[in-house]
Amino acid sequence: MIPDQAATLRNELKTARFITIASGKGGVGKSLVTMNVAISLSKMNKKVLVIDMDVGFANLEVLGGIHLEHTLKDFFSGISLNEIVEKTKYGFWLLSSGNDVNDIYAFQMGEKERLFSEFQRFGSEMDYILIDMGAGYSSLMDNVYTITDDFILVITPEPTAIMDGYTFLKILSIKGLKSRLFLIVNMVNDLSEGRLLIKKFGEVTSKFTSLRFEKSYSILNDPRVKRSVREQKPFVISYEKIQPTFGIMGISSAIAGKDGKNNIPERMSFASKIRRFFRLGR
Ligand SMILES: Nc1ncnc2c1ncn2[C@@H]1O[C@H](COP(=O)(O)OP(=O)(O)O)[C@@H](O)[C@H]1O
Ligand SMILES: [Mg+2]
Repeated sequence: MIPDQAATLRNELKTARFITIASGKGGVGKSLVTMNVAISLSKMNKKVLVIDMDVGFANLEVLGGIHLEHTLKDFFSGISLNEIVEKTKYGFWLLSSGNDVNDIYAFQMGEKERLFSEFQRFGSEMDYILIDMGAGYSSLMDNVYTITDDFILVITPEPTAIMDGYTFLKILSIKGLKSRLFLIVNMVNDLSEGRLLIKKFGEVTSKFTSLRFEKSYSILNDPRVKRSVREQKPFVISYEKIQPTFGIMGISSAIAGKDGKNNIPERMSFASKIRRFFRLGR
């Protein structure tokens, strides 16, 4: 094939956007947001892969009543990625990193090259790759922070969640985070509390870091959200008309919006993002 054609073909290959959902403190609603945004984007006919990097007690499988046969670690005992990534009953695909994310980084280079090529094939069929992170900053996750197109920080009105969220953001700012940034203030008692916190948090962020939030959203503390967790049924499905569902829909539309600009260098191709993600060098 002549180079021109090859270049055109490459450009036409779909490449998924990476979206990281993170927080300073645990228990603020990251996994719930991840799952419900994934469903909401799927309803918009987008192909979504969720990578569960926070396999804690309330992981995505529990929240959604989903049972996965395999985790990413099984890949290294010879199972193909297609068997490990499962399409959920909600329309999105789910990949679990296993109990300790760092284990996947311990494998041989040759095996990781195989992972790279299978993941590239699968990933290029997706529109979005959502990463549900563990709480707090970890330098072990620097590779993820540098490749993510969008970064969603979740806080709550609890002072510790605000402080830990801010500290996390401050570190990322020093590290030179280039992603498009969103803020979610979850579990607010009323929308005016949310607005006030969005204003204050935004002001402090602008004053003391180089980062700016593209958009911010409040989600109400709603007993039906807790009920949806007990029922293991995502609230965007069970409760279509509640404020938390509208909040999730707003975030999903913003993510899917056409003005998806960030400062990640253009030259960082999808392939090199995957390489960084799996720590295969550049
Ligand atoms: N908007 C909300 N209204 C009511 N309860 C919520 C809301 N968001 C989160 N929760 C509660 O917080 C718990 C922790 O949420 P989860 O998504 O597992 O947090 P994280 O992933 O940040 O650790 C949920 O099980 C639920 O009980
Ligand atoms: Mg979680």
